Amino acid sequence: MDNFRFYCPTEFIFGKNTVEKTGQWIKKYGGTKVLLHYGGQSAVKSGLLAEVENSLKNEFIEYVKLGGVQPNPIDTMVYQGIELCRKEQVNFILAVGGGSVIDSAKAIAAGVPYAGDFWNFFEKTVTINRALPLATILTIPASGSEGSENTVITKKKEGLKRGLKSQYLRPVFSVMDPTLTFTLPNNQTAYGAADMMAHVMERYFTQTQGVDITDRLCEAVLLSIIKEAPVAMKEPRNYEARANLMWAGTMAHNGICGVGREEDWASHGLEHELSALYGIAHGAGLAVIFPAWMQYVYTSGIDRFVQFAVRVWGIEFNGDKKETALKGINALKEFFSSLGLPVNFVQLGIQSNDIDQLIHTLRINTGGQFGAFRKLDMTDARAIYEIAAKG
Ligand code: NZQ
Ligand code: ZN
Repeated sequence: MDNFRFYCPTEFIFGKNTVEKTGQWIKKYGGTKVLLHYGGQSAVKSGLLAEVENSLKNEFIEYVKLGGVQPNPIDTMVYQGIELCRKEQVNFILAVGGGSVIDSAKAIAAGVPYAGDFWNFFEKTVTINRALPLATILTIPASGSEGSENTVITKKKEGLKRGLKSQYLRPVFSVMDPTLTFTLPNNQTAYGAADMMAHVMERYFTQTQGVDITDRLCEAVLLSIIKEAPVAMKEPRNYEARANLMWAGTMAHNGICGVGREEDWASHGLEHELSALYGIAHGAGLAVIFPAWMQYVYTSGIDRFVQFAVRVWGIEFNGDKKETALKGINALKEFFSSLGLPVNFVQLGIQSNDIDQLIHTLRINTGGQFGAFRKLDMTDARAIYEIAAKG
């Protein structure tokens, strides 16, 4: 196991009827003028936004609203948010929504106290050394952004989707009421499950030895998602299924599953090019990319793939490592299919001759080399996209 430091200061407020106290939590963390940031329409339609506004009013907390964050959030909304926060002297940001809203809020939080262009952080030419405090009310378990130190924003003009990591981007608190996810359509529940599983698997597939505790944690989170996602899709108002999925999403990406081990993140890099170029859901892209990546790299650490097959999918090891590893990869694919997720580029609406464009932006974003379980270059990336195209 590698040395590590793990600091996850987010306070999680989990369960039914937790939204009504949001104003009190904001007060606890010093917010007096709030930017209320939200998405397209789901939070307005469900009445959640009105409930949050009431909670702020009850505590006499002033706020301004900025809605309309789109899935795969873009830089133009971030600039708008930064300008609004400065003009209104906002000192706290509340994101009401999923990963897209939360990530937009994080970029705004970092951009407000910084005199330059916030995109410099994503170019990695400047490091974040402070940000406005932000909190979340999570409405879809998927990105893990409610507990993560990451944000992912797309620079619209160049079509560059980039991630950024900083301890200043961890929410100070996250309200997580599983009943808020009852309204999720099945496709969003499935995209979320694929994303959470991918967050675990980016950590699970490592060359670091002696990491049984995190292996077991990863397997537990995966097994819970595999059990609960189909239940939540069949019974959208099943509280226990929704609750377990919601917490699984946080565990998958707050860092606890990855401590002491080298993480991979090649599949996320490959996927971000898809969602940047075609606007597809991140989880849908991962359902196609992750098994393709596995098929390409499994021989670089076959024992780990055998362990995945046996412990996660219950496949019996018959002495043939290759066969067992491939059965595990196939079981993952079949599970994604059973949730109605796409399994190839055509089902994602992507023609394989667009691979040149994907490689072009991937090269810009990675500098030509990426991945850790197996170091990859652009020839490898092309081969993985070709596997994904066929499914
Ligand atoms: O915009 P509205 O109308 O609210 O609708 C949203 C959106 O269309 C809808 N939705 C959310 N909660 C709902 C709901 N519909 C009904 N009932 C509810 N309770 O769901 C749609 C998708 O929302 P979005 O926020 O885009 O989904 P998700 O949470 O999957 O976030 C995706 C973004 O997160 C990034 C992805 O790249 C993508 O841009 N990621 C962020 C990470 C992080 N910050 O740590 C890590 C991830 O790997 C990921 O890359
Ligand atoms: Zn993800």
